Amino acid sequence: MATKTILVTGANGEIGHGLIEHLAEQGGVHIIAMDLVPIDKSVRTRCHRTVTGDILDTSLLESLSTEHDFDTIFHLAALLSTRAERQPTLAHRVNVDGTLNLLEIAVTQSRLQGREIKFIYPSSIAVYGLPTLAAKHAAGRVQEDRHLEPRTMYGINKLYTEQLGRYYANFYRQLDAEISKGFVDFRGVRFPGLISATTLPTGGTSDFAPEMLHAAAQNKPYACFAREDARIPFMAMPDGITALLRLREAPRARLTRHVYNVGAFNPSAGEILNLIRRSFPAANVRFEPDTKRQAIIDSWPEDVDDSAARTDWGWSPAYDQERAFAEYLVPAVRERYHR
Ligand code: SER
Repeated sequence: MATKTILVTGANGEIGHGLIEHLAEQGGVHIIAMDLVPIDKSVRTRCHRTVTGDILDTSLLESLSTEHDFDTIFHLAALLSTRAERQPTLAHRVNVDGTLNLLEIAVTQSRLQGREIKFIYPSSIAVYGLPTLAAKHAAGRVQEDRHLEPRTMYGINKLYTEQLGRYYANFYRQLDAEISKGFVDFRGVRFPGLISATTLPTGGTSDFAPEMLHAAAQNKPYACFAREDARIPFMAMPDGITALLRLREAPRARLTRHVYNVGAFNPSAGEILNLIRRSFPAANVRFEPDTKRQAIIDSWPEDVDDSAARTDWGWSPAYDQERAFAEYLVPAVRERYHR
């Protein structure tokens, strides 16, 4: 089988680390890893090439595109929801203009190679927006096409870029004399909060769960910015990686949508603490809700309906919350912090 070249943006981020490790293990691929900051050593050794640069630098992207034939683009680079509220115009540039730049590269590549390019995109539960807690409780497990009124810049950016992906896949330059349909095979998942044992997220609003775990494992006190009863969906990072890889591999004919919910478990912040205390009984966590960040959490659904992903491409998480903590998170953080 010919070696496939895969571009990963945001390669130094949480998802990037795990994804590159898995892609490298699967073999048969050349990974081109790109990030704003130099790629970590642990990741670098698994890559064919690493690029330090900005996804807003179109000449850099174009030169990469002339030097390589990409089979798939995993476009992970983004500013998460809390950071995006602090720098909304920067967030818009990175999350929207950056994604547009990568979609254009996918089109260029497709023309050069005369075939479709897969574009795999992590979207988020932040695309949803429930106006009140009562509405959130009433909504329960939300389906993909409902409650799409996000209150964050990040959520708005993700919702819009999902639509951009759909446009590039189906309607790109639809008035041209020669219709150029189907250049970009755009596929996205709306991730819940991801919890990794090996890395900490930066700038997200679901960060309270991983922060609580990593603090407990280091015996550090932690003031949780979410209310004890705050409930949103979460997923263990290995399942997040599996979702991206499975979606990439799914036969196109099976897909009925461009963007899918994927769920795993949805404990409240208090329930997360209980799970952590089973292994770290001395965990020193207190709840000090930040009303503004909590309002964002309250606008996100308490659970997602992922039946379309299950039906179309066999999505099924390996980790429920018991297994995620007992078999993945706790052993791995113990090892990481020698506890
Ligand atoms: N984890 C992200 C955040 O908190 C949501 O996708 O911003």
